[in-house]
Amino acid sequence: MTKVGVGIVGSRFQADCIATSVKALPEEAEVVAVASPTAGNAEAFAKRHGVAGCYTDYREMLRDPRVEMISISAPNYLHARITIDAARAGKHVICEKPLCITLEEADEMIDACRKAGVLLLYAEELFFAPKYVKAKQMADEGAFGRVHLVKQGEKHNGPHADWFWDVNKSGGGALMDLGCHGIAFCWWFLGKPRVKSVYAQLSTQVHADRTEGDDEAITIIEFENDTVGVIENSWNRPGGMDDSIEVFGDKGQTYADMLMGNALPTYSEVGFGYAVEKASSTRGWTYPVFEEHWNYGFPQEMRHFARCVRGKETPISDGETGRVVQEVLYAAYASAGLGRKIEMPFAPKGIAKPVDLWKRP
Ligand SMILES: NC(=O)c1ccc[n+]([C@@H]2O[C@H](COP(=O)([O-])OP(=O)(O)OC[C@H]3O[C@@H](n4cnc5c(N)ncnc54)[C@H](O)[C@@H]3O)[C@@H](O)[C@H]2O)c1
Repeated sequence: MTKVGVGIVGSRFQADCIATSVKALPEEAEVVAVASPTAGNAEAFAKRHGVAGCYTDYREMLRDPRVEMISISAPNYLHARITIDAARAGKHVICEKPLCITLEEADEMIDACRKAGVLLLYAEELFFAPKYVKAKQMADEGAFGRVHLVKQGEKHNGPHADWFWDVNKSGGGALMDLGCHGIAFCWWFLGKPRVKSVYAQLSTQVHADRTEGDDEAITIIEFENDTVGVIENSWNRPGGMDDSIEVFGDKGQTYADMLMGNALPTYSEVGFGYAVEKASSTRGWTYPVFEEHWNYGFPQEMRHFARCVRGKETPISDGETGRVVQEVLYAAYASAGLGRKIEMPFAPKGIAKPVDLWKRP
């Protein structure tokens, strides 16, 4: 069977990651087109990655018959519109995290894809990260007895592009940007149980001049069966990306640091090209990673999604997954605003963006 033709919407950070990842496991999919609005960007991306089709308007790309599935690597506030347009054009959709801004959008996206008979795939790469997959395999085997607590943290020194800092485009701060990974991770790791309650502590410690959003977030999720997920996020950690998990059961525990252990303790007085995502310096002691995309699970994720399109696998992360995360995000922002735990389900209507539930509870 032929490779799944992928069209990427966006041409910068995550778009580069997706194109590189598809090429890393090339037997199932191929990037055939890219769409990006800034003049010259799609062309430059196409040249960089050897992509045949380039467009400035993603709606033109949706008419390209080579494109069977799109990957939305555009800012959060555009995810819903692009998904719905793609579904109507009969294209399968991979949506980057977070799924969208509002729960209404999430429902519309799911509905549009269902009606069009296309897949809505939610790009949570932590479900494919080899270290985390190994931890889950051991947990599912019973290695730790009854797992009652799972922690995930993702922290760095703040996003690279301006739109992340604008809550009207991003929907929120570090919790929205990074916490969506931890919410999905804890839920997935514990077997996708129903969420009972959510508690969050949010603050803007360092970047109040740049954003109305949170730059420090701690979220506690209580699941059915009284298991607990704890998620820690920050946009205030210089020194490069930190992504790690801890798993605790009555018979054991495991810890995994996504990037350490896949890095070389390195000292350089003159510096060099690249160490790790968001690291501001390569001088002195640094920890350059190898196989960075692979460690996160991006190539494996894209391979899985392509196989889902061909009916060879069943999606382990879809629109419903993104909606679960979205509802927890709502509850976490509301919890921080009200200073108390929020019982689930929690789906207030008419909220413009999750961060409003914190700012104007
Ligand atoms: N899974 C992950 O770990 C991960 C990592 C980074 C980003 N992301 C997600 O990917 C998405 C993109 O983030 P990024 O870091 O690549 O941002 P970015 O700012 O680096 O790139 C955004 C791209 O979207 C394009 N764009 C803007 N408006 C557009 C429009 N109307 N139509 C088409 N393209 C448009 C921009 O031109 C740019 O190429 C976000 O939702 C982000 O949360 C996920």
